[in-house]
Amino acid sequence: MFRMVDLIEKKKAYGELTKEEINFMVSGYTNGEIPDYQMSAMLMAVCFCGMNMNEIISLTLAMRDSGDVLDLSKIEGIKVDKHSTGGVGDKTSLVLIPIVAACGVPVAKMSGRGLGHTGGTIDKLECFEGFDTALSAEEFFNQVNQYKVAITGQSGNLAPADKHMYALRDVTGTVNHIALIASSIMSKKLAAGCDAIVLDVTVGTGAFMKTKEMAEQLAHCMVNIGKAAGKETVAVISDMNEPLGCTVGNAIEVKEAIDALKGNGPKDLMEVVYTLGTQMMLLSKVADCEQDARKKIDEVIENGQALEKLRQLVTAQNGSDIAIDHPENLPQAKHLVPLHAKRDGFVEKCDALRVGIVSMKLGGGRKSKTDTVDLAVGVTLCKKIGDFVKKGDILAYLHSNFEENDEMLSELEQAFDFSDNPVECEPLIYKIIS
Ligand code: URA
Repeated sequence: MFRMVDLIEKKKAYGELTKEEINFMVSGYTNGEIPDYQMSAMLMAVCFCGMNMNEIISLTLAMRDSGDVLDLSKIEGIKVDKHSTGGVGDKTSLVLIPIVAACGVPVAKMSGRGLGHTGGTIDKLECFEGFDTALSAEEFFNQVNQYKVAITGQSGNLAPADKHMYALRDVTGTVNHIALIASSIMSKKLAAGCDAIVLDVTVGTGAFMKTKEMAEQLAHCMVNIGKAAGKETVAVISDMNEPLGCTVGNAIEVKEAIDALKGNGPKDLMEVVYTLGTQMMLLSKVADCEQDARKKIDEVIENGQALEKLRQLVTAQNGSDIAIDHPENLPQAKHLVPLHAKRDGFVEKCDALRVGIVSMKLGGGRKSKTDTVDLAVGVTLCKKIGDFVKKGDILAYLHSNFEENDEMLSELEQAFDFSDNPVECEPLIYKIIS
């Protein structure tokens, strides 16, 4: 029999925890025998002393096995899940999932809510009135079987160890550690029962990972975990220094996603969608090369099947599809407040973190997990990095339900920097790791 205090001491002295010790710790914490204060000490010891790959794999599998592990094997085809490590303006899933499902990839997706300056797919889907984001395991299974697509929130008993540990990390300064992030994300993905996983690891001011080196480490770590668990896993590292697309907020991102499915998506969003979509289609074997995948994506956008797949997803989960044809029915903010450029120049920076924080402060995001969000508010960007602006041009709009918006406007203004010379854009996709 182990004692948690001994394991904390061992980790504090840079020791390697065995699989049995990790299983003891995770199951003890999940069933309430190990208290928060001991788990907090362990998490902090991990932050300082790290974990090797064996420990990270054992931790992930123990968290995966702490609750239900879905068995999707009876559903035909290679089921692929997709996960993003979070971003600003990241409505990728809303566009990508209907596209790949329309191309024949069965998608069983678990999504999260937005936290801090980052958005979440579940909040966005709730813009469709009545949309059910809490499918039971059985409903989830049946829907993927019937429609080849389902998106649900983290259900009651999937990876409960991670649910409790994440809440503890949130209040103990132990979120930002690669071993803990990788095991947290992958435990949920593995519990959701898919056959293969595509990860979008974002890097930049608006992301968890601030440097390319850190993003690569996280990507390698998650790919290794996936492979150790017998799931093909690919990670795409994408830029998150600037918000993705032109909108940041829930309803306005949904409208942008609908436009994208109608063939009018912004270039950066579509590049991420095509890259991730290609990887999902290759893993599920519905395309045999990148060119084939891209062609199939073009087709389902052009012939309307991707948009119809979104409608099917929304109505299958009891949502109203009115907004798909009439986006003006989405929640709308009372005020549309323009931000004007104070000088001529090329946009050199449009800081994702700052824009994300403005959207959060308008009410579009959560400071803590229990906050409710205002689906209508956010920011529309009219200019992006590299664009030339003249003094007086509109750089962005606030979608606000506040009567007084000067403070928010000046915060948003600080997101932008300008240059007198043309600006080279950084590549959007840095690397693909498999
Ligand atoms: N998302 C997760 O699910 N877990 C983390 O630790 C960080 C981001």
